Amino acid sequence: MHSTRRYRRYDPAMTIGIGIAGAGTVGGSLVRRLVEERSVVTAKTGLDLEVRRVAVRDLSKSRPSIPSGLITDDVMSLVSDPEVALVVEVMGGLEPAGAVVLASLQAGKPVVTANKELIAARGPQLFAAAAEAGVPLLFEAAVGGGIPIIRPLTETLAGEQVDRVLGIVNGTTNYILTSMADDGVGYEEALAEAQHLGFAEPDPTADVSGADAAAKAAILAGLAFGTWVAPDRLHAEGITSITDADFKAAEQLGFVIRLLAVAERRPDGVSARVHPLMLPADHPLAAIRGATNAIYIEGSSVGELLFAGPGAGGEPTATAVLGDVIDAAREHLSGSQVAPAIRVEPGDVVDFGKVDTQWYIRLDVIDSPGVLSQIAAAFGEAGVSILSVRQEGRGDRATLLLVTHTAPEAAQQAAVATLRSLDVVESVASVIRVESEEA
Ligand code: NAP
Ligand code: HSE
Repeated sequence: MHSTRRYRRYDPAMTIGIGIAGAGTVGGSLVRRLVEERSVVTAKTGLDLEVRRVAVRDLSKSRPSIPSGLITDDVMSLVSDPEVALVVEVMGGLEPAGAVVLASLQAGKPVVTANKELIAARGPQLFAAAAEAGVPLLFEAAVGGGIPIIRPLTETLAGEQVDRVLGIVNGTTNYILTSMADDGVGYEEALAEAQHLGFAEPDPTADVSGADAAAKAAILAGLAFGTWVAPDRLHAEGITSITDADFKAAEQLGFVIRLLAVAERRPDGVSARVHPLMLPADHPLAAIRGATNAIYIEGSSVGELLFAGPGAGGEPTATAVLGDVIDAAREHLSGSQVAPAIRVEPGDVVDFGKVDTQWYIRLDVIDSPGVLSQIAAAFGEAGVSILSVRQEGRGDRATLLLVTHTAPEAAQQAAVATLRSLDVVESVASVIRVESEEA
C-alpha cells in the first residue's frame, strides 16, 4: 500500500527571522550563539536562523555582543514585525511575557520559552492557543535547564505509565544546600555565589521559597500524568529554615538534605509538592551536588530512569532553548508537526494532608523522667508511630532526633502541633520529611 502522506520540502536557503524577548543570563547566551554560531547551526541543521529583534527593558545597558540595530524596548514589536517568524521568550515573569507569548501564538508564530512560572500558571490556556493556531509552543528549558526532560516525557515516554517523578529541579537551592553541608559555607554567602553564577531568578525568593521548583513540579506532573496541578493546589516549602544542626543530624542518621519536587500518581488522583527531603545517602539523587539538577522517574514498565545535568546557567539553558528554536523552525518551514500537542486535563489532585509522609523532627526538651512518655503519647494520639529516637544530652536539657514511620501528612502535623504545646518541649527546632521506602 502506498502512503498518501506528503511532507512539504523546505528550502534550506530560506532564512528564518527570530525575535527574542530578553537578553539577560539566558537570552544573552542565546543571542551570542545565534549570531556567532549561525553558520555552524546551518551546517548541522540546514536552517538559516537570523536574529532580527531583541527586546530588553533597559536600552541604556551596554550589550557588546548584540548588534545595536537589533535592540528594542518594545517587546510587542516582536509580534507585529513581519520579519520575525519565530518568537523566543526569555524575559521571565507572568507579564508582559504572557501577553507576548499568547499574541505571538495567535499571530501564527511558533514560540519557544524558558518561563516555567508562565507555563505553570497558564499552561492549559497557552497549549490550547498553540493548538488552535497550529503552531508549536516549546519549553524544554523550563524544567531542568540544559537537561532534556520535556521531550522524553512527552515523546519517548508517551506510552509509559509513569508512577512517580522525584526531581532536584532548582539549581540555586541545590547549590546552597550542598555548599552548606559539604563545604561549610554560610547560607547568605552560598546564595550570593549562586546569584553571581547566574543560577538564581531575578528575585531569588522564588528559588529559596520553593516557588520556582513548584512551577517545575506542576509542569512535570502535567506532562507525566496528563493532570494539570494548578499552582495553588501544590504544597511548596523552601530551604530557609534549614540549619547546620539539621545537616549534622542528617549525617548522623545516614541522610543528605535536598529540595525535592515530588509528583505521584495515586489511586485517588495526582499529588505534587515541593519540600526539603532527607534522602538516604545511597539514593541516586543524594549524589547530585551544586547547581546540577536531576529528575528520577519511576515507570511501571520502564523501571527507573535518571536524567541529570546542568539545571541552571546561561549556556546550558541556551542549549535547550536553541534546540527548541531549531525544532520550531523545522516545523514552521516544513508545515508538518514535529512536537506533539500537549494534552492536559484538570483531573483529581490529592490534598497534601492525605499524602503519606515520614518525618524527621528535632526537638529541644527538658531532660527529666517522663518526658519521653509525653512525647510518645503526642505521636500515639495522632496515630503516628515512632521509628527511632536519638538523644543528645546537654545538662538538664536534651536534643531529641526523632524519625517517624509513614503516616498521613495531617497526622504528622497534628502530632507536631501537640508537641509544641507541651511544657517539656522547649522548641520544635526543625521538621524535615524523609524519603520513605514504607510509603
Ligand atoms: P534575566 O537575566 O533577569 O534576564 C531577563 C531579561 O528580560 C533581561 O534582558 C531584561 O531586560 C528583559 N526584560 C525583563 N522585563 C522586560 C520587559 N518588560 N520588556 C522587555 N524586556 C524585559 O533572566 P534569566 O535568568 O535570563 O531568565 C530568563 C527566563 O529563563 C526566566 O523565565 C527564567 O525562569 C528562565 N530560566 C532561567 C535559567 C537560568 O539559569 N538563569 C534557567 C532556566 C530557565 P534588561 O536586560 O534590560 O534588564
Ligand atoms: N533559578 C533557577 C534555578 C533557574 O536555580 O534552578 C533554572 O530554572
